[in-house]
Amino acid sequence: MHERTGTRLGTGLILGIESSCDETAAAVVRAGSDPLSNVVASQMALHANYGGVVPELASREHLRNIVPVVREAMSRASAAAGHPVTFKDLDAIAVTEGPGLAGALLVGITYAKALAYGLGKPLIGVNHLEGHIHAVLMETRQQAGTPMQQPLLALVVSGGHTHLYLARQQSGEGNWSYRNVGRTVDDAAGEAYDKVAKLLGLGYPGGPWIDALAPHGNPRAVPFTFAPIKSRPPRPGVINKKAPAQTEGPHFDFSFSGIKTAVLRYVETHHMRESIDARRAALAADPSITPKSPAIKTLCDAQTLDLIASFQHAVVGNLLKQAFAAAESLGARSIVVSGGVAANSELRRRFQAEADRRGLPIAFPSLALSTDNAAMIAAAAWPRLLAEDFASEDLGATPQLRLGQASPGPRFIP
Ligand code: KG4
Ligand code: ZN
Repeated sequence: MHERTGTRLGTGLILGIESSCDETAAAVVRAGSDPLSNVVASQMALHANYGGVVPELASREHLRNIVPVVREAMSRASAAAGHPVTFKDLDAIAVTEGPGLAGALLVGITYAKALAYGLGKPLIGVNHLEGHIHAVLMETRQQAGTPMQQPLLALVVSGGHTHLYLARQQSGEGNWSYRNVGRTVDDAAGEAYDKVAKLLGLGYPGGPWIDALAPHGNPRAVPFTFAPIKSRPPRPGVINKKAPAQTEGPHFDFSFSGIKTAVLRYVETHHMRESIDARRAALAADPSITPKSPAIKTLCDAQTLDLIASFQHAVVGNLLKQAFAAAESLGARSIVVSGGVAANSELRRRFQAEADRRGLPIAFPSLALSTDNAAMIAAAAWPRLLAEDFASEDLGATPQLRLGQASPGPRFIP
């Protein structure tokens, strides 16, 4: 799918485009490390009414937003550069090719393809998960001026993914390679946050609500446990999307559907339905209440706060246990945590403390680059531009695209 063609590096500017889920995003990044602009049009408010992302609505919103978002990214890039930055100044257009929602991905890909074709510029397809990792790499390069030590262990933890990768760069500024060494066998960690928040009558997405409320409860009140995950060898000819990361060697997989069910059982056995319904009604009646509002705490009794704190403590503890076990077993020399759940304050605090205890460098993205954005897509495309590893005309949307592994499922070519 990738082509190598001769090109000359000009300005080092890449326009990144991201539309895999519920954010339409565009960014202009110079040399993979200097974001001149980073524009995100979030559809969160639209999907909040349904308690989750509605794929058809997402595609329609991307269609509505893609042109103004790209225009805004170009105009902010001009302001940051101090001179006009036009499409002609770009060295390449980079776009997310998967994983994600087919219809949503197709909007970004179709637009990026048309733009690249019209301008005669190279097109670069980027894996969304690779993008999340590069959000951190870009910022660490900016801040410290030195790259993270390799091989690095990357935990990508978001609403759709909970994956562990051992990553290294081929040489100098060459392409990156990734080995998938762990993944969820059912729900993603962010999905568990979203489902538990919904169950408890909190808002969508659930992560920020639980993050804000957890410090007010006792994290040891409810002892949630995680059973070990058994790896089963794949049946010949059968692609199991949920199969553990690898069948040979150690694997560090996750499972978050059990804790979601345990929270539900706790709610039922402790007769919490009535207070949950009251909270849901109070939040519906006052849309100005956000996770940061002091009012939200008054809507939760001590039992609810303890349940929330215990849930978060258990989820973060499990992510931490698996990530550090993988790092130790695989000889990782640094750790990167990225994706929407990496915005979580308890996660950051406990991962940082554990990394310090072990003397391992660790990095998280800034809050703005934790959730979906296009600067990370442009940053991930930079080594590809240097390697002249470009997408061909048949670049398509691959909803089940994997990183470091063959991808199952269909590909949709616009
Ligand atoms: O990376 P992202 O924006 O989109 C996906 O690729 O999924 O991640 C969104 C996920 C949601 O599940 C949301 O609840 C979770 O990230 N999230 C958080 C926090 N902020 C967002 N989870 C825990 N704590 C947070 N502060
Ligand atoms: Zn994401």
